[in-house]
Amino acid sequence: MRRALWALGLAWAAAAAAADADLERARKIVSGRCFLCHGFEGESSSGLYPRLAGQHPEYLAKQLLDFKSGRRKSQMTEMVADLDDAEIRALGVYFSKQKPAPHAPSDPEITAVGRYVYHRGNVYSGVAACASCHGPDGAGTPQLPRLAGQNALYTETQLKQFNKRERTNDNAVMHTIASKLTELEIKAVAEYIAGME
Ligand code: HEC
Ligand code: HEC
Repeated sequence: MRRALWALGLAWAAAAAAADADLERARKIVSGRCFLCHGFEGESSSGLYPRLAGQHPEYLAKQLLDFKSGRRKSQMTEMVADLDDAEIRALGVYFSKQKPAPHAPSDPEITAVGRYVYHRGNVYSGVAACASCHGPDGAGTPQLPRLAGQNALYTETQLKQFNKRERTNDNAVMHTIASKLTELEIKAVAEYIAGME
């Protein structure tokens, strides 16, 4: 019994050490290149780049694998070309552990429109409420990305890319939604999302 417990303890310690080593590797990769655009803590240096802090690790790893294979066409492909699966998973875990920070509230008139679209959709044009998939607080799930606190410019760009299917991986659901959004609704929902905590 004691021997079994001891072996279990060793296995646990080995797993913990491996996880620490993976995170250390991820930190090195981030400080080598990712920080330039996404920041050391996933906070992003410009609205053009997505904030990664607090995003689900499974979603991050999936997107990185899709960049690598070319399923999601992007300038990101060259950033991840030489990374292996373990490094990609570790990068997902690294950014998921960073604390997301909300943006300062913007124009209250436009965020009010965005709040309506986010929580109620648009029954007149057949847009489903974003909250029904991404959650009322924008926290998402491992398959549905967290949106809360995302840069408005990035959200806007992605919605336009989904509309034109320029976001090339798994775009079916979001294409249907984005194709029905007006310019005003896109702008408004992106502003509202940026201020969500
Ligand atoms: C030169 C700037 C730049 C660098 C460096 C960079 N990225 Fe990116 N990253 C982007 C841009 C731009 C996008 C948006 C993708 C698009 O629209 O094509 C993006 C998107 C992503 C996404 C998708 C996020 C989402 O919400 O779907 C992940 C994950 C990501 N980057 C991780 C990384 C990692 C990890 C590194 C380092 C290995 C890295 N990036 C280095 C510019 C950069
Ligand atoms: C029926 C479910 C569903 C609804 C409703 C929905 N989404 Fe999505 N959304 C998804 C899925 C699934 C993905 C992930 C696609 C992937 O895996 O690449 C996604 C991805 C996104 C992304 C990309 C995030 C990133 O980090 O790159 C944005 C932005 C987005 N949705 C915005 C919205 C907005 C705004 C609304 C409301 C107008 C909305 N979604 C409604 C399912 C949904």
